[in-house]
Amino acid sequence: MIKIKNLVKNYQSGANVVHALKGISVDIDSGEFTAIAGPSGSGKTTMLNIIGCIDSLDNGTVLIGDKDIGTMQKLEKSYFRRENLGFIFQSYNLIPVLTAYENVAFPLNLLGLPEKEIKPRVMQILKEVGLEGMEDRIPSKLSGGQQQRVSIARALVKNPQLVLADEPTANLDSNTGREILDLMLEMNRKHKTTFIFSTHDQMVMECAKRLLYLHDGEVIRDERRE
Ligand SMILES: Nc1ncnc2c1ncn2[C@@H]1O[C@H](COP(=O)(O)OP(=O)(O)O)[C@@H](O)[C@H]1O
Ligand SMILES: [Mg+2]
Repeated sequence: MIKIKNLVKNYQSGANVVHALKGISVDIDSGEFTAIAGPSGSGKTTMLNIIGCIDSLDNGTVLIGDKDIGTMQKLEKSYFRRENLGFIFQSYNLIPVLTAYENVAFPLNLLGLPEKEIKPRVMQILKEVGLEGMEDRIPSKLSGGQQQRVSIARALVKNPQLVLADEPTANLDSNTGREILDLMLEMNRKHKTTFIFSTHDQMVMECAKRLLYLHDGEVIRDERRE
């Protein structure tokens, strides 16, 4: 599903060039539950942002399905993101003035679906993530774990082929983090959604079915387990 070949990304930082990704090659199949692990600064966020069409690449190719994202223009990327990708962030990134329901409905509104189609889908996914009855709460009236559940629902509501999560448990205590990982695993099983998530948390790494270990912009380990 995802074919990454010789992926290079450099950042200009003042007079210096930071070599964030130094020629990464890796294939990720449809339905995988893959963690990108590695210390701070190893390139995890950069890799996720490039796969997620948020950042551009400098060299190499990234294919998602039959789409070569390195050749896509800005607008094409934004449509591609909207239709095919879901995102989960460390700090949830919910819209503070919208309710849980409205936050989850947001991506479907962007796709222009009619409200009568949106409502059952939003109610169903909120139920799946364990937030039945909390539809009308705004994010500040929810716990961190509940906010992350809203953001998982928001990422999954359009049935994306791929969900990218950048350190999804980093702001949560270890028990809540574990629950969020279990929920992501359940969604991966149930909906066959491909998940790629970054982490430097040992517990999260242990939940992954595949572990890509980054160090200084290179993949130094690639483990699979069942
Ligand atoms: N916008 C940027 N400008 C300059 N350097 C950056 C930028 N984003 C990331 N970097 C650098 O690229 C390297 C990889 O960063 P990042 O992908 O954020 O790593 P991680 O997510 O593993 O902590 C780091 O050295 C970081 O300082
Ligand atoms: Mg990061």
